Order: sequence, then C-alpha cells, then structure tokens
Amino acid sequence: MSIMQMNGGSVIAMVGKDCVAIASDLRLGNQSLGISSKFEKIFPMTDRVYVGLPGLATDVTTLHQQFRYRLNMYTIKEEREIEPETFAHLVSSTLYEKRFGPYFIEPVIAGLQKTPSGDLKPYIAATDLIGCLNFAKDFVVAGTASDKLFGVAEGLWEPDLEPEDLFETIAQTLLNAVDRDAYSGWGAVVYVLTKDKVIKRELKGRMD
Ligand SMILES: *[C@@H]1O[C@H](CO)[C@@H](O)[C@H](O)[C@H]1NC(C)=O
Repeated sequence: MSIMQMNGGSVIAMVGKDCVAIASDLRLGNQSLGISSKFEKIFPMTDRVYVGLPGLATDVTTLHQQFRYRLNMYTIKEEREIEPETFAHLVSSTLYEKRFGPYFIEPVIAGLQKTPSGDLKPYIAATDLIGCLNFAKDFVVAGTASDKLFGVAEGLWEPDLEPEDLFETIAQTLLNAVDRDAYSGWGAVVYVLTKDKVIKRELKGRMD
C-alpha cells in the first residue's frame, strides 16, 4: 500500500467561460476503513485563489498551514494579494525544497488571474508531490481517483461553459469518478469562482 493511498481522497479543477471550478470528495480513511465524511481538502487562499490538497491527511494540514504562512509573508512584503499563477509557483517551490523527503500531497490550484487590462481570466494548475507544475487549459485532477477523473472529465468537459453548466459538469465528473474508487467519495464539495461571487455547494454521494 502506497502512502499516497493511505487516507484516500481526490480533487479536480475545471476551466469555464470567465469562471473556474474546483471540487473534492470528503472522505478520510485508514486504508479501506472509512473514518470521516467531513474531511475538507480545498482551502481558500485569497478571495479568488483556491487550493486542493489530496494525499496524506497529516500533510494536508501541515501544508495548508505552511501555505497560509508563506502567503501572509508575501502579502505583507508585496502589500497586495497573490495572483493564482504566483501562488502555483509558491506551491511548487515549497514542495521542491523538500524533494528528498517530500510531503505526500498533489496540490491542485484554481483561481481567477488579473490580466494587464484589468479583467479576470480563469487559471488552473496542478503539481506532483515534488512540485512539478502542470498547466492545463481544460482540467486538472489529483488523488486516488485521478485516473477515473481523467476518463470522465475527458468525456464531459467542453470549452466555454457558463458557471451553472460548469458546476453540473464538475459535480457529475467527480461523483461518477469517485464511485469507481474505493478510497474516494463519501460526499463532495464544489466551489465555482466567478468575477463577482464564489458559489460553494456540498453534494451528497454514495456512502458505500
Ligand atoms: C489504522 O488501522 C490499523 C488497523 O487496521 C491500526 O493498527 C492503525 O493504528 C490505524 N491507524 C491510525 C492512524 O489510526
């Protein structure tokens, strides 16, 4: 049993039309034994930068605190909020710094990036456990159901989805993928980030 699969859990992020979505399951397990169905893996870093941290549960907590600390230092020094792309590189260097004894986490970043003209454009990225960045134009996945998420997302995603359609797409992708993974599931949470609001919805899922 790999340590990456010890506690289970999965995260996915998708790009829409002027919006972005990130979703995760809520399971925490001790291998195949379900322990909690309230274990959130997605954290807001700013109003428009969210990070999902699937992997080893102790490292979810450790890295969340580490990112919050590094983010506060950035905000104080720069006197401005961090952009999603910059945050993705902060995540990457935090993990690469510990590459010979890594945190067992595969972060997923979703946010709205300020362009030079002043409007907000969707941004998603994911890294492996040593911080190798993957910038995708459509969707990124991570966690124990990542292979299933790739399959379903490849079938359901399409370009320029409006916020409500993006919600439905990411919700159905996640729910159907985690039903085929014993280590993910037990409920889900979806965030949809738009220009003027963030929508958070908790979803019921199969409890077996
Ligand atoms: C996980 O379960 C095993 C028994 O199957 C137990 O020995 C171990 O202490 C449990 N781990 C945690 C972190 O509770």
